[in-house]
Amino acid sequence: MIIRSDRDGFVHPQSSEITPHGVYQGRRELMRLMAGGLAGAALASWAARDALAQGVARPGKLAPLAGAKSAVAGAVTMEKLTDYQDASSYNNYYEFGTDKSDPARQAQQLKTSPWTVAVEGLVKKPASYGLEDLLKLSAQEERIYRLRCVEGWSMVIPWVGYSLAELIRKVEPLGSAKYVEFVTLADPKTMPGVGSRVLEWPYVEGLRLDEAMHPLTLLAFGMYGEVLPKQNGAPLRLVVPWKYGFKSAKSLVKIRFTDQEPRTAWSKAAPQEYGFYSNVNPGVDHPRWSQASERRIGEDGLFAKKRKTLMFNGYEAQVGQLYAGMDLKKFY
Ligand code: MTE
Repeated sequence: MIIRSDRDGFVHPQSSEITPHGVYQGRRELMRLMAGGLAGAALASWAARDALAQGVARPGKLAPLAGAKSAVAGAVTMEKLTDYQDASSYNNYYEFGTDKSDPARQAQQLKTSPWTVAVEGLVKKPASYGLEDLLKLSAQEERIYRLRCVEGWSMVIPWVGYSLAELIRKVEPLGSAKYVEFVTLADPKTMPGVGSRVLEWPYVEGLRLDEAMHPLTLLAFGMYGEVLPKQNGAPLRLVVPWKYGFKSAKSLVKIRFTDQEPRTAWSKAAPQEYGFYSNVNPGVDHPRWSQASERRIGEDGLFAKKRKTLMFNGYEAQVGQLYAGMDLKKFY
């Protein structure tokens, strides 16, 4: 059954009939947050951003993590960098709360050492990697990427890491592997948000194998030449610059190769809003937000003209071929 919400004029499926009660409750909570402006009201968040950036303390200088400038095509933009303060105080990390200021405050209790990442599924060489092994696996590079959030804001961040493809090659995917699932930490002891039903935990994301192998897909350990702050996904996260920000899963603990399209946390919560592909596409609107333009955090004031969002977030020359012949309205 389909219902229309009067508040946002959007058609939601009546999910109580087809999903377990807990999951249904979680979706209702998500819809309530969206309607009430926590998950979705980019404008209100925008107005509050300055206050947040000033109110949240920077967690001291983190350990340096230098990376040589990348030679990967498209991996460096000359655009102005977002201030570190903004990038580390205006975050989405629902395990630590749904407000943009929650992660910077609450993520500091996350224990990032020891840390292991299980790499498993349809591969010849499944293995459990300690963080130290992963840091040594390939040379770190600096990649300056635009990251655009589905809510309509964007940042430019100098990440440090290496192409996920380096790790993928080590484990030798089988011919039957078509997708990669990314599972992130869900620790109720340190992550207060995991007790909520906003999403199903752990947070799961996924890519097609060729997307995961693309040289721009980054396994990031740092930003701004330092190790990642916890609110940005320490000790390691994904950064997929041509997709909406939520595809870039934080605090990874498992990477699994599959022959089926993974069910992701956001598409489970609201499949009509968050598709598997989630490529940045100004021509395909989210049901509640236009995707045609965006505001750059820290640069574009609330009343400034928004800047145009670019196809594949400006990475079309590098990634367009991955989607040749696909109907991107259908595979959103
Ligand atoms: N990863 C986990 N584990 N949990 C999350 O809630 N939020 C996503 C993504 N990765 C999220 C996550 C969303 S919605 C965005 S926009 C980006 O992280 C934000 O990354 P940033 O805080 O470094 O800008």
